[in-house]
Parts: sequence; structure tokens; C-alpha cells
Amino acid sequence: MYYSDELVEEVRSKNDIVDVVSSYVRLQKKGANHWGCCPFHNEKTPSFSVSSSKQMYYCFGCHASGNVYTFLMQYEHYTFPEAVKILAERAGVNLPEVEYSAEQKAKADKRSQLLAVNKEAATFFYYQLRSPHGQKGYQYLTERQLSEETMHKFGLGYAGLNGAMLVKHLRSKGFSDALIKEAGLANYTERDGLLSQFWNRVMFPIQDINHRVIGFGGRVMGKGEPKYLNSPETPVFDKRRNLYGLNFARTARSGNIILCEGYMDVIAMHQAGFTQAVASLGTAFTMEQANLLKRYTEKVLLAYDSDGAGVKAALRGIGILREAGLTGKVINMKPYKDPDEFIKNLGREAFQERIDQAENSFFFEIRMLAEQYDQQDPEQKTQFHREIARKLCAFSEDVERENYLEAIADKYNIGFENLRKLVNRYAAQNGDVRPAERPRQAVKAKQGPEENVKKAQRLLLTWITDEPQLYPKLCKYIEPEDFTDELYRKVAERLFADLDRGEFHPADIISTFEDEKEQQEAAALFHTSLPEISTKQEREQAFRDVLLTIKRNSYEYYTSRLGTDANALNQVIAGKKALEQLAVMHISLD
Ligand code: GTP
Ligand code: MN
Repeated sequence: MYYSDELVEEVRSKNDIVDVVSSYVRLQKKGANHWGCCPFHNEKTPSFSVSSSKQMYYCFGCHASGNVYTFLMQYEHYTFPEAVKILAERAGVNLPEVEYSAEQKAKADKRSQLLAVNKEAATFFYYQLRSPHGQKGYQYLTERQLSEETMHKFGLGYAGLNGAMLVKHLRSKGFSDALIKEAGLANYTERDGLLSQFWNRVMFPIQDINHRVIGFGGRVMGKGEPKYLNSPETPVFDKRRNLYGLNFARTARSGNIILCEGYMDVIAMHQAGFTQAVASLGTAFTMEQANLLKRYTEKVLLAYDSDGAGVKAALRGIGILREAGLTGKVINMKPYKDPDEFIKNLGREAFQERIDQAENSFFFEIRMLAEQYDQQDPEQKTQFHREIARKLCAFSEDVERENYLEAIADKYNIGFENLRKLVNRYAAQNGDVRPAERPRQAVKAKQGPEENVKKAQRLLLTWITDEPQLYPKLCKYIEPEDFTDELYRKVAERLFADLDRGEFHPADIISTFEDEKEQQEAAALFHTSLPEISTKQEREQAFRDVLLTIKRNSYEYYTSRLGTDANALNQVIAGKKALEQLAVMHISLD
């Protein structure tokens, strides 16, 4: 971790969770907690609660939970150090400079200089568009039906009348020629020295997910070559790892991301309300981009051009998405060329319908394949079926493969058993897939005794964080070692150590885990729903049952480890004694 535990805790404690969450979610105080509609899943009635005393949030619908840090990590997709930085700034806490080597420092400095010169260039273009020089550009964008608001949101600009204007402006702001060149904003020419290749074009600043300008795309107004001129790759502009529009799309919360080909498509879609649209940067979609998308969604819809090149690109994209473990679907744009034209002609409702009807990517692949064969010719038809069978082999999971097999056989009128035999034959030849068996109904794992014990452990931790005053009553009987799940034990260790010192910071415990998944799991431990209980007697009974379950499990656990674990004997002796006491004891919860 970058920062000390003390600092992490200081920053956390200075950012009240109710305040922080309130800037994203409308909260209402009801009882001890604040409530709102969960930002992590779609809902109409509030099941998202924020506790001021615990400094944590919990959703009773989707079980998202955590502290201020995990909230920002989940909502903004920040890494932990990023969340610490943002919250430290918010609370006015100074963070120490992270120690860098001289080489790292030079690199970081270079990066920030490149970002600074890009930002200045974007500002220049932006004002050019709104100056008399830029009228042509403004008119062009207006003719393409972009509103002032949209142009502003995407920071669109105009490059100036010649290649000298940008260079002159950047120099006047103190940027060196070398830096301007390294940022890909200009090149040396024999006759006129440094000149920008961007002139008389409308400019699209390309931003990273943190809204920093990393490069540009410039379009000719009307006809001309090249239609788009993009910045070259630089230390801050990696075309394989960034996506146009992702800085907005990542918080769209639409349940999917729409991948299109062009900047104009992204902009038109955002203007129509589809703020989940992104595009690759004038290059083919990459595996790195698929992995980037995976941080934000599981479902990617392709909105590629409807022409031959678009279909080819879509087929390639599908393969990449599949490899990245993302579900891909294809939006049908016909009879229009691309999303921009579609929306212009048919409007947003019609496009929403196309989204709803997006085609399963495998069906799309097979449909495109079908077009290559003459289905009237038995020879070609056979080839087509063979090709289908080969593609079906790619599904390594039996159930999935069988389901597709069934659907495709049905769709293309192929005998199911025949197609299956073909698939099995290819599978056997390639060795990548075992011969398929009939799919069996998937049986959901039953809740075993282990799950019961874990639940008791969770209940107790929640109970203690809900009512920390109970701790002195039970610390005689329970110790962290009784939590036999490693993560639970770590949480108990930290919680109990705090309580022993008369302190109580459950939200802080979460941050001591480095792994995001562990943080989530740890947070969930404080939010198990407690049994609905009305009478005091029932409450006490339930509490004792929970204690006994945990203690009995711990006793059995350590008994089974006698002889292999040096600590086990002590645990067994202490456990036996505690169990005897608990069996006859009355625990008062007053
Ligand atoms: P409009 O014609 O303005 O609607 O463009 P579009 O967004 O429909 O773009 P198109 O489908 O023609 O191209 C898709 C993307 O490919 C563009 O957004 C650019 O990133 C890139 N691209 C298009 N033309 C060129 C070109 O001439 N050179 C380069 N390097 N990239 C291009
Ligand atoms: Mn277009």
C-alpha cells in the first residue's frame, strides 16, 4: 500500500460517509440510517442505507457494502490509492509525496508536461471554434446537428487557419518546441520550422477516464483526405488502452456499454441520451480495450457500421470480447450506415428498440456465415454445416454448447443429432472439447453446515458492530481464533483489538485489506441481517445460539487439528470450558 494505516484512517475519518455519498445519491434520513436508491443496481424504492455511526453503506437489494473508500472505488472505479487521494484533497489532508526514483520522477514529470500542453491545445481549439476564425467549424458541427451543450461537453474545437497558430499560442504559454513536438501537436518543416498538422479541421479532444486530454482527432469539414487526422502515439496517448467517451460512459450505469466505430457516433449517441457509448481511437478494437471495458460492464453491444467493413470489424470485435469473457451483442443499424445517421433519421426511441433487439453475437456470426454459402447447393450447404460445427466446438462448457447447438439446429433446419455428431467428431479431432453429454440440470449447491457456521460468524460480527456495548459481555467467551474463516478471523482480530482499547472504527477495518474483493467481503460482515426478533427473551436466546454455534464449530475445528497445530490444544481446552459455561449461562442483553 502507498500510505500508512494512520493516514488512511485520518483521511477516512475526515470524510463523513453521509456527505460523500450524498453527492452521488439522494439520501433521506429515516431512523438511525440514511436511505436512498442504490447506485449499484437499478431500483425504484430505496434499499440502500448509509449508517453514520458505522460510517458504512449497505444495499439490502444487491448487497453492495463498504466504507467511503470502497464507495468511490465501486462508483467511480478508482483504485484504492486514487480514492485516498481524492478524499484527502476533499478533506484538505496533505498526502506525503510518494518516493520515486529519479527515473520514475522524470517520467512522471514528462507525463504531466505532456498532459499540460494537450490541455492548453484543447483550450486553444475550444476558443478558436467560438471565434470569428472558427465560424466554419461551428457551422459544420451545427449542420451535423450537434447542440451547443454537446459541443461543450465533448470540448469540441477548431484548429485554426494554419499550422502556425497553435504553435505560436503554445509557445506564448511557455511550452518548449521539443515538448510541443513530443505531444504530437506539431512537426518540424524545413521552410517554416515547427508547424501543426492540425489546421482548418474540427477538433475532437480525446480524454482518458479521468477527463485528461491525451490526444486529438481532427476532421476535415466536408470532403478531403485524410478524413480524420489523429495524434500519433505519445507517452500519454496509448491508442490500444483508451476509448473515446469512456470518461462519461463509465458512470452511465445503463447495464451495458455500446461500442461504436467513430467519434461522431459516440457524440450523437450521448446527445440522444445513450451516454454508455464509446469508440476505439481510429484503430481496431483491442484486447486491452476489452479488458478496460470489463472493469465497468459485463455486456458490450456493438454498434458498428452496417457495411462490409463494419461487419468484418464486428466479427473481429466479437472474438475479442469473447476471449475477454464479455457478453457481446450486435445492434442492427440497417438501413442506415452508422448510429449517427440512424439516430438522425429515426430518433432515440427507434435506436432504443434496436438496443433491446440486439442480436446474440454467436447468432450474428452464424448469420453472416450463412450469407457466404448457397443454401440451395447441397455441397455448399454441407460446408456451411461443417463450419457451424467447428464454431460450436469453441464452447468449452457442455451446457452452453448444447444450448447453442439446439438453437442453431432449429434456426437453420439442421437435424439436431446430425449436427451433434459433427460437433463431437470435430471436438474429438481437435481434442479441445470432450464429446458432449446430454446437458444435466445444474444443481445449485445446498447450504451445508459450513455455510451455517459462517453465517453465525457473520451475524455475531454484525451484532457487535450494531451494539458495541455487548462486547464486554462476550469477550470472555469468544476470541478471534474462534472465527475459523481466515478473512473473518482477521476482521474479528482488528475489531476486538479496537474494542479492547475502548475504540470502535469498523469502517477503518475494511481499508486494512488491500484486495478490493476482500474489502467487499469484510464490509459485508458488518451488514448481515439480524434475525427479526420481538421479545427480549428471544433476542437473548438467538444471541446465545449464535455464540454456541461459533464456539462448537471452533471446538471441533481445533480438535481435528490436535497434533498438527501447536495452538490447537489450548484452543480445545479453552473452548471446552467456554462451551460448558455458555450451556448454563444466561446472557443479558440489557
Ligand atoms: P463521420 O463521417 O464524420 O460521420 O465519421 P464517422 O464517425 O462516421 O467515422 P468513420 O465511420 O468514417 O470512421 C470511424 C473512425 O475511424 C473515425 O472516428 C476515426 O477515428 C477513424 N478514421 C476515419 N477516417 C480516418 C482516416 O482517414 N484516417 C485515420 N487515421 N482514421 C480515420
Ligand atoms: Mn458517420
